[in-house]
Amino acid sequence: MLRPTPLPSLIVLQLLERCNLRCAMCYEWGERGTYASIGGRRQLKLDRVLALIEEAAPQRPRYEFFGGEPLLYRGLDRVLEAIASRGSEVSFSTNGWRLAAAAPGLLPHPPRRLWVSIDGPPGINDAQRGAGVYARALAGIERLAALRGAAARPEIGVTTIVTAANWHAITPAYVANLPLDHVAALSIELCCYATPAQLASYRAELRPFGVTATPYADAYGQSPADFAAVDCAQLAAALVAIGELCAARGIELNLQPRRPTARNLGAYFSGDFAALDDARARCAMPWVAAEISAAGEVSTCHSFYDASLGNIYRNSLREIWHDERAQQWRARLREGLLSICTACCRYHSA
Ligand SMILES: C[S@@+](CC[C@H](N)C(=O)[O-])C[C@H]1O[C@@H](n2cnc3c(N)ncnc32)[C@H](O)[C@@H]1O
Ligand code: SF4
Ligand code: SF4
Repeated sequence: MLRPTPLPSLIVLQLLERCNLRCAMCYEWGERGTYASIGGRRQLKLDRVLALIEEAAPQRPRYEFFGGEPLLYRGLDRVLEAIASRGSEVSFSTNGWRLAAAAPGLLPHPPRRLWVSIDGPPGINDAQRGAGVYARALAGIERLAALRGAAARPEIGVTTIVTAANWHAITPAYVANLPLDHVAALSIELCCYATPAQLASYRAELRPFGVTATPYADAYGQSPADFAAVDCAQLAAALVAIGELCAARGIELNLQPRRPTARNLGAYFSGDFAALDDARARCAMPWVAAEISAAGEVSTCHSFYDASLGNIYRNSLREIWHDERAQQWRARLREGLLSICTACCRYHSA
C-alpha cells in the first residue's frame, strides 16, 4: 500500500498570482481564467517561503515555481539561494517578458531548468500571448544563454500549448526557427480543459470535503466543440516531424499526451478521454507532491487549488501533510481518479 513520504518530495510554490500578461487560453488570467474573475494579488510571504524550505530540507525535495509570473516575485534570488543551499533543485516556467532583465539574478544559484513559454511563430504566439511577447522571450533566451556561457545551468526549455487558435502553426518550421542552439528541451502540450459534465462530477466529489465552490477548476471549463476545427491528422503528422527534428538536434521532446497519433489527439479534443492510449486509473502525486498556493493553501493537485488540505500560515507543512484531512484525500484518490484529472498536466506526464 502507498504511504505518503515523510514530507513532500516535490513542492510546487505558487509564488504569486500576479501576471503582466493575459494569454487567451490561460486558466489563471485568460478569457475564462480564475483571476480574471476573482482577482489575483496574493503572494507568498518571503519569510514563510524561506522557513518552509528549511522545514522541508530533510526530505531534500525537488521544487517547482508557479505563478502568475515567477519572475515578478520580489525575493526570487533569496528563494533560489535557499533552495540551492539545502541541496535541492528547482525548475520553473516563465512568460519571458522580463527574462532579459532577470537573467543576471538567476545565475548565482541557477534553476535546473527554465521553461520559456512560446506558443508558435511570432504572429501566432503574440495573438495568443500578447503583442511583442515573442521578441521579448527570444531576447531573454539569448541574454540568458550569453550570460550562462559554458555553464550547464540553467538548461533552457520551451513550452508550447496547443489550442484551437494555434494548432495549425505548430510545425517543424516553427520549431526550426526557435534558438535551438540554446534549447535543451521542448514540451508540446495540448490545452488543458474539462468538460461541463466533468466539472459537475468534480463538484460532487469535493462536497464530502466541505468544498462548495470550485473557481480554480471552473476556469478549465470548455466544450470539445471548441476544438472541432483542429485537424488531428495534420497535427499528428506535424508532431511526428517535430519529433524527428528534435531527435536529430539532440533536443529532449516531451509530448502531452505522449503518443501523437491522430486517434489519440482526436480522443483528447473530442472529450473521449477513456479512449486515450495512456488513459490512467491511478496517480501517485497526492502521496509525494504538495502544491502551495499564493494564499498559503496546500493541495496535492497541480492547479486544482479548490481542495485545500490546510494553510501554511496556520500549520507546519508536516502537520498538514499528515493530518486526517490529507489522509481522507488520499483515501479518496486511492478509490480512483477525480473527474477532472484528464485536465491535469500530471495525468499526462507524471
Ligand atoms: C500558468 S503559466 C505560469 C508561468 C508563466 N506565467 C508562464 O506563462 O510560463 C504555466 C504554464 O501553463 C501554461 N498554460 C496556460 N494556460 C494553459 C491551458 N489552458 N492549458 C495548458 N497549459 C496552459 C502556460 O502557457 C505556461 O506554460
Ligand atoms: S504569462 Fe503565464 S500566467 Fe500569465 S497569462 Fe500567460 S500563461 Fe497565464
Ligand atoms: S492527475 Fe489527478 S490526482 Fe494526479 S495530480 Fe492531477 S488532479 Fe491530482
